Amino acid sequence: MDDELQLGQERDHIGTLFRDLGVAIARHDKLYYEESSPEISDWEYDRLKQEYQNLLKKYPFLRTRARAPGVGDDRRKGFQKVAHRVPMLSLGNTYNVDALQAFVNRVHESVGEDVSFVVEPKIDGAALSLIFENGSLIRGITRGNGQEGDDVTRNANTIVELPHSIEIEDVPPLLEVRGEVYITLADFEEINSQRQREGLDVFANARNLAAGSLKLLDPELAQQRRLRFIAYEIASCSREFSTHGEVLHFLERCGFPTNGHRFAKTFADIWAAAECYDRERRSHPFATDGAVVKVNEHVLRGKLGAISSAPRWAMAYKYPTERVITELLSIELSVSRTGIVAPIAHLDPVPIGGTTIRHATLHNADEIARKDIRVGDFVILEKAGEVIPAIVGIVPDRRPAHVQPFAYPKSCPACAGPLKRLDGEVAYRCLNPDCPPQISRRLEHFASKQALNIDTLGPQRIEQLRDAGLLEQFSDIFRLTEEALLHLPNTKEKSARTLLEAIETAKRRPLWRLLHGLGIPHVGVQTAKLLTKRWPSMEALMAASREELQLCDGIGDIVAASIHTFFNDPANRRLIDELAALGLSMEDSAKKSDSAEETSFFAGKNFVITGTFHAFSREELKQRIEQAGGSVRESVSSKTNALIVGENPGGKLADAGRFGVPTFNEGQLATLFGGV
Ligand code: IVH
Repeated sequence: MDDELQLGQERDHIGTLFRDLGVAIARHDKLYYEESSPEISDWEYDRLKQEYQNLLKKYPFLRTRARAPGVGDDRRKGFQKVAHRVPMLSLGNTYNVDALQAFVNRVHESVGEDVSFVVEPKIDGAALSLIFENGSLIRGITRGNGQEGDDVTRNANTIVELPHSIEIEDVPPLLEVRGEVYITLADFEEINSQRQREGLDVFANARNLAAGSLKLLDPELAQQRRLRFIAYEIASCSREFSTHGEVLHFLERCGFPTNGHRFAKTFADIWAAAECYDRERRSHPFATDGAVVKVNEHVLRGKLGAISSAPRWAMAYKYPTERVITELLSIELSVSRTGIVAPIAHLDPVPIGGTTIRHATLHNADEIARKDIRVGDFVILEKAGEVIPAIVGIVPDRRPAHVQPFAYPKSCPACAGPLKRLDGEVAYRCLNPDCPPQISRRLEHFASKQALNIDTLGPQRIEQLRDAGLLEQFSDIFRLTEEALLHLPNTKEKSARTLLEAIETAKRRPLWRLLHGLGIPHVGVQTAKLLTKRWPSMEALMAASREELQLCDGIGDIVAASIHTFFNDPANRRLIDELAALGLSMEDSAKKSDSAEETSFFAGKNFVITGTFHAFSREELKQRIEQAGGSVRESVSSKTNALIVGENPGGKLADAGRFGVPTFNEGQLATLFGGV
């Protein structure tokens, strides 16, 4: 073949490879940064990026086609955009000891060997910048695209352990603190298991939950996610610091939680510190995925400078990912409330990262085909950070002779209705609205805590009622009678009455709960609240035109179209009429939507008080907390959400330390009463 032609073909081939990699990275960026629900592990993602960089290095002609390097972009619609005073960069990272050594060498070559390092655990959460003026928290901003982020002040205000006002003598007029928002592993597990009980999607890991929660439009929901914060840098301050050690010391003095740190001089010290944090990581209450190595001296940091997305004075070393191999016993296809048919892997139980794994998600048909995963294969399971294990591939050498490619069914495994892929979706859906598991999931959703919150009407009870032919649609719930319930197995008068009382209470709940319960596509809790704030009655909402819906702040075109389509369907209108006739409240009184109990920071939390206060007597303080929906207990336990500390605190302060209970002082308390 003509040399030039061959060269041209090779360039085309490499060009296509490069473009495909770019498209894949962009897709995973979107899943990670915008949707907080990645499909691949950090390790797989970093490998894609590494391959991309390798191609770029090897074939300079690709440069004109390359993506702009950056820190990703997690800006969301619905938040005010704020420019960062100082760009919010990311960190260069590696899984490789040699690359870490190369970083240290580069630093030595640039600024000489008279340099020291600080090593810190790399906490796996979402970056947040907090601005304090004269000691008061005035703004919280997400990283966004590094130059401009979302104003999430209202969510930042829900973080209990922050010093909402800094109480030191020499408080700086301006202080911008950077750190990581995270959710403890215990809270993560609890939130996920509650979501599972309610038939909602679970979060893959604590990082996604933290990132997603920080960017919730509704601070009340964000508050339920129990966000926490660890400070690791000062971006700007009206005072100078000469070392990172000084910065950390000052942050602690201001009352910020920090993450522990070790000083290091040589590479051997750095490596010892990183290994030590790796060994300790299981005992941290939060997820860490590596160690961050930073130059300690600020003058030297200045000399080293930064490239577009990361400083040259710091580097993250990421811990190797834990991997195990186990047999794939079967693939179950489960049908969700909205008809999505999701493949779930049943595995030969295997321990990884301290837990035994029996199931893993296979995401969708494309994933199974791309990785050529077959029942009977030995699959590689990976746990990066604290991710719910993902199947990253198979072991070809261990494939038994007889295994067949997985045949994704053409019809619904539950109702045999046809499966379809909607435009732009990777998942298959069963489009039969009468598909039995979909009906059950819809009813579960309607009765769940995030919707009408009908106590004791959970999945088991719903299945029992459906088996008895008593429950098919939402309205049937309100037609249940004590007599009918008493015919059910294991149902005594007491439980029947409890259920009927819960159903009565549900009739009078705020409108957003009913709206959310209806399961209109794209209408989650946040949207339902936005809608009912603007249209406090079902009648008014149903009468809203598509254009009017689009004009509502926080409602996008897709959501507006979905709501409009839903209410234009005569069957749905009939359903609303039926529910109204059965006594469900179809409008919000002012009291219902704004009740202190539903919006306050204190709602549903347990507090303990110690010491004396300037602005309140103990009794007044107790009353105010109770009025805001909280409870005050006598002693600190693992169930205490926060200890309120006045002057001359007693032994309860030490108890709080022992149980890891956050504390806040009178100043912070005042912000909370006046704040969220
Ligand atoms: S310093 C300019 N220190 O990891 C560099 N970052 O993957 C500022 N992170 O963007 C970051 N623990 O969100 C720093 N001890 C730590 C950290 C940390 C976690 C996050 C941070 C950063 C990301 C990079």
